[in-house]
Amino acid sequence: MEGRSPAKTTIYRVDRDNPESEFLAEASSIIRAGGLVVFPTETVYGLGADALNPYAVERIFRVKGRPPDNPLIVHIAVHDDLFILGKGIDWRAEALAKKFWPGPLTLVVPRSNKLPAITVAGLDTVAIRMPRHPVALGLIRLSGVPIAAPSANLSGRPSPTTADHVIRDLADRVDAILDAGPTDIGVESTVIDLTSEPPQVLRPGGVTVEELRAVVGEVDLHPLVTGAPIGDLVAKSPGMKYRHYAPRAKVVVVVGEAGEIKQAVQLLAAHLRRRFRVGVLGTDGHRYEADALRDLGPRSSPSGAAQRLFRYLRELDDEGVDIIVAEGWPEEGIGLAIMNRLRKAAGGLVIPADRVLRETPTISSYLRYGVMGT
Ligand code: TXA
Ligand code: MG
Repeated sequence: MEGRSPAKTTIYRVDRDNPESEFLAEASSIIRAGGLVVFPTETVYGLGADALNPYAVERIFRVKGRPPDNPLIVHIAVHDDLFILGKGIDWRAEALAKKFWPGPLTLVVPRSNKLPAITVAGLDTVAIRMPRHPVALGLIRLSGVPIAAPSANLSGRPSPTTADHVIRDLADRVDAILDAGPTDIGVESTVIDLTSEPPQVLRPGGVTVEELRAVVGEVDLHPLVTGAPIGDLVAKSPGMKYRHYAPRAKVVVVVGEAGEIKQAVQLLAAHLRRRFRVGVLGTDGHRYEADALRDLGPRSSPSGAAQRLFRYLRELDDEGVDIIVAEGWPEEGIGLAIMNRLRKAAGGLVIPADRVLRETPTISSYLRYGVMGT
């Protein structure tokens, strides 16, 4: 079957909990005909196509501007499909699927020969997940095929957590958008590679590393997850080597103890404002002086912060700031996913608060010339 040619986008407002069956029926017939449907998941919106149709999948890459060596996640609605699309499924994959599906966990397993090479970017593994959003599950079920779907943003932009974000990135490049309001989790699924020993988290996300360990015991973090310099290490998940989640503004993240972070962010923002429009991504309702301010909420609620993170990065961009100074988060629980996305948005520009406090002028002039050392 040929992929359909680009069409004007139809937008369906669907009920999150009881999606209208006529809308799901129309969307699933688009999928079966080789078209592109944007749908909500509990993490972020996905740009979906029939994972078994190479022409439809090719359109995903084209529409997103996604590099062809970056494989897609295949979304399923029944557990059996893990065994049909994957092979050599061991007890750990089974236990994780049983515990966390449907939900924000993606399993990388050896692949069977059911999928075309383009879907997995020629790899001999496949990333599979069963989302728990009723609209996503309904769409996959009615389509009757597994759905390949990356996040529905233009490559390099923050993932979309509302249909509005999708429209701004992909309007008229997709056939339909199912709009069910803002997503719950706000950061993408956790990706765990079960082909390494012990299993290795390639991307922290909605399911925490602590939760994974409780089910399968030892689990490693790929070194790029916590920000070893990109380029020094072989990127195992092809997506890791791209500067993802990036707003247009330059981003700098300040890490350390909460009180010190706030002092350091304020000082750095004040210095940078002599030359730039500065946005601050703060917490706890702290009243920073900045050209634009977004507050991720109380530090005691990192899940609330995760939910708002991508929206606020986009909003700060919309305010036309040149640089965003962000408060860092403790790298535990969902905080690991928040920091991973902030590190990527910052391209590694993560500075300890005490260093900012000691060397503010030096650091702000480094940032000015875009050549921050070490
Ligand atoms: O929450 C999510 O996972 C969302 C929603 C739509 O399901 N999807 C998503 O897809 O974030 P995407 O394409 O933006 O990110 C998928 C990540 C990429 O970093 C990709 O490199 C990695 O998963 N990946 C896919 N297949 C892989 C494989 N076989 N081995 C290792 N990494 C893989
Ligand atoms: Mg993505």
